Amino acid sequence: MIIEPRMRGFICLTAHPDGAEANVKNQIDYVKSKGAIEGAKKVLVIGASTGFGLASRITSAFGSDAATIGVFFEKPPVVGKTASPGWYNSAAFEKFAQEAGLYAKSINGDAFSNEIKDETLALIKKDLGQVDLVIYSLASPVRTNPVTGITHRSVLKPIGTTYTNKTVDFHSGKVSEVSIEPAKDEDIENTVAVMGGEDWTMWMKALKDANLLADGALTIAYSYIGPAVTEPVYRKGTIGRAKDDLEATAFSITDSLKDIHGKAYVSVNKALVTQASSAIPVIPLYISLLYKIMKAEGVHEGTIEQIQRLYSQRLYAGKEVPTDEKGRIRIDDWEMRDDIQEKVAELWKNATTENLAEIGDLEGYRKDFYQLFGFDFAAVDYKKEANEMVKVDSIP
Ligand code: NAI
Ligand code: NA
Repeated sequence: MIIEPRMRGFICLTAHPDGAEANVKNQIDYVKSKGAIEGAKKVLVIGASTGFGLASRITSAFGSDAATIGVFFEKPPVVGKTASPGWYNSAAFEKFAQEAGLYAKSINGDAFSNEIKDETLALIKKDLGQVDLVIYSLASPVRTNPVTGITHRSVLKPIGTTYTNKTVDFHSGKVSEVSIEPAKDEDIENTVAVMGGEDWTMWMKALKDANLLADGALTIAYSYIGPAVTEPVYRKGTIGRAKDDLEATAFSITDSLKDIHGKAYVSVNKALVTQASSAIPVIPLYISLLYKIMKAEGVHEGTIEQIQRLYSQRLYAGKEVPTDEKGRIRIDDWEMRDDIQEKVAELWKNATTENLAEIGDLEGYRKDFYQLFGFDFAAVDYKKEANEMVKVDSIP
């Protein structure tokens, strides 16, 4: 069928398989162009189908010839309805990995559940023996705790006082003021339960107890800090509490891995257009201004450039992994440069519906957004019939 983007609010209901393939191919080509990385050879990526997790899987496979197992939660195609983008991304990834002679298997289901953990552990045991890198890159609005059975929903709210600032509807380009009411106590607890470190701890404990972590194994989760303008709703809001918890968890996991010389890190990454970040008020306006400045300065990166740099210049650079005073890896260093932040703050004050297309990179934002769903790739002929029912035996 002919597949077109169909929007509802901030989400796109359709995805294009050929565009997803072009996306994955571009990322593979980028990683290959940067040369080999002396990295892990057996890698588990939790949240492997989109965003930073997909870029991590691609960097491991095509930068270090790694065998990869990817866990994600995506919808396969059904008659009359396309798959979710991460499903097509993963199908394309597996195709390219197989062509390159690389082991790649995927598990599609709820990573927070005991069942999916057990299934993943069994697959590692059977096919890989052990893993030497575990990437933890989940972004989800909801988590059912497998021990308590309680379903937690995360919210993106400030803590203490109402936050009012500018935001943009990136589809219409309309800049307006948004006010977000402060979180209630249970909102904070719930957000920490979804996006904090508890599930990461559960994964690492299960892997270690089953003797599936190689000596010296690393595990990495991703965090964000960002600028002063988004602080009330991001880093000092409910999601920030979850990130504080995730960052603290890196230390407790490292303690638990001492006897196998393992280590857990949090990497603080750059703000990027992903399905997760598009849903956060205020962030799209910040990103569109940030992109404009970073592109002008020649330091703009997408997910694949970020993760390729994380691996080649931080994790596997052949020296001690550099961290900040809180033990975090900083790959947001270019975003957070004083000169970049000063310029963004200046633009922020002046941004209006009338001038945003000029002073911000609204076009770049939109393109990145559509590309998440496989649209807007020059290499794809969207007028041609696409086979939306792509089947990959190895992906449930
Ligand atoms: P994303 O939405 O692109 O990817 C989320 C992944 O999690 C997908 O593979 C999805 O299938 C998987 N997933 C979600 N719920 C699941 C479940 N119940 N079971 C199994 N898999 C599930 O998100 P993105 O942006 O790549 O985020 C990944 C991490 O990076 C998050 O911790 C996020 O906070 C962090 N981060 C994101 C930044 C951004 O600007 N997008 C900046 C810095 C950090
Ligand atoms: Na991800």
